[in-house]
Amino acid sequence: MELVSMFPAVDPIPLPAPVWLFKVLHLLTMVLHFSAVHFLLGGLTLATIWVIWGRRKRDVVLVEASGVVVSRLPIVMTYVVNLGVPPLLFTQVLYGRALYTSSVLIGAWWISVVFLLMVSYALLYYMSARVNAGRAAGWIGFIALLVVIKIGAIYTDNMSLMIRPQAWLEMYRSFPEGTKLPSGDPTMFPRWLYMMLGSLAISGLPLLFLALKQGYTSELRGFLHRWGGRMVAIMTVPQIAVAIWVYRVEPDAVQMGLSANSYYTVCVILWAATALLLVLGGAFVSLKRPGGALFPSLLSLIGFLNVSAMVLYRDGIRDVALGVSGYDVWDRAVNTNWSTVILFVILFVAALAIVGWLISVVAKAKPVEERYVIN
Ligand code: HEM
Repeated sequence: MELVSMFPAVDPIPLPAPVWLFKVLHLLTMVLHFSAVHFLLGGLTLATIWVIWGRRKRDVVLVEASGVVVSRLPIVMTYVVNLGVPPLLFTQVLYGRALYTSSVLIGAWWISVVFLLMVSYALLYYMSARVNAGRAAGWIGFIALLVVIKIGAIYTDNMSLMIRPQAWLEMYRSFPEGTKLPSGDPTMFPRWLYMMLGSLAISGLPLLFLALKQGYTSELRGFLHRWGGRMVAIMTVPQIAVAIWVYRVEPDAVQMGLSANSYYTVCVILWAATALLLVLGGAFVSLKRPGGALFPSLLSLIGFLNVSAMVLYRDGIRDVALGVSGYDVWDRAVNTNWSTVILFVILFVAALAIVGWLISVVAKAKPVEERYVIN
């Protein structure tokens, strides 16, 4: 059977906007979603380790550091969710025939994400309240972390399965109820691991900004600053190794398709250069004392470019893999409704500006006193 026939028939209604516009919006919102995911996963890991370690050693700075991070995680979670919805919609528009199929094949797990999200959200609030009250919270952080990691793994499972149409029929025959996650795909684990390590590295960036906050003791600020720089520098190193692994486990046809396209080569160069700068810049910053916002801002810009390069290349893996199976994302009937498109773009830019303004207001707001004790 020809592989192309694995895909359901294309929707006869043409796309209401050009493919390139959906692509741009998809990639942009994907970078934002991934940045929020990195802050959440990395922040939760550190806050959990610090509160366990701090209570054991009765070290106030560690408990305080855990408190200032965990009290912000419920807000970060709102960004993870709200910045996840737009790319999900754009992916469905562009790759619906593949994504709907894989989502149905793992239907029970895919639906479970909603409930897992609610559980992890509640656990974040509970953990924050307990750290605030000076009570043990490490075990809650640990459970929340497992749940959040599981959500990430389900996303990786689905995003890998959607580009392997050759696996769909067998999966449906074996588990038509949608209760089984895909297995036997060598690309899944490295792909998931890359995101997890990326979270530990990128989550160092907000720590550098927290270290600038007035009202914290100089010990706490120094601690956040050192850890921020070190996380960026140290955790980027294994991430580089895993990135090479991600590429090497892709099927030969995908590797060849990626290497043959100079656009993806540029993405790799941008990614490698920014990864190197993150290692060097993170190490440099961690050796300095917390000062102004210049170095954290520069490093964050490099981090943003690094995540962007990864998102572009990741998109390439999908397009090339689907292309090998006969699915061309650019091959769609388009009937652009320009008035709606223009209105959408205006509202989209306005919404991004408002979110940016909100963040700046929060950053400049009079600091509330944050006190964390060990009871
Ligand atoms: C704790 C919550 C979440 C975590 C840890 C998380 C993590 C991840 C990870 C690791 C990936 C990359 C998967 C891969 O390609 O290997 C991903 C992709 C994605 N996530 Fe999230 N996610 C979360 C919540 C959400 C929510 C609530 C939404 C939407 C409502 C969402 C939308 C997406 C989309 C659309 C993609 C990829 C789409 C594409 O490839 O085009 N995520 N997420």
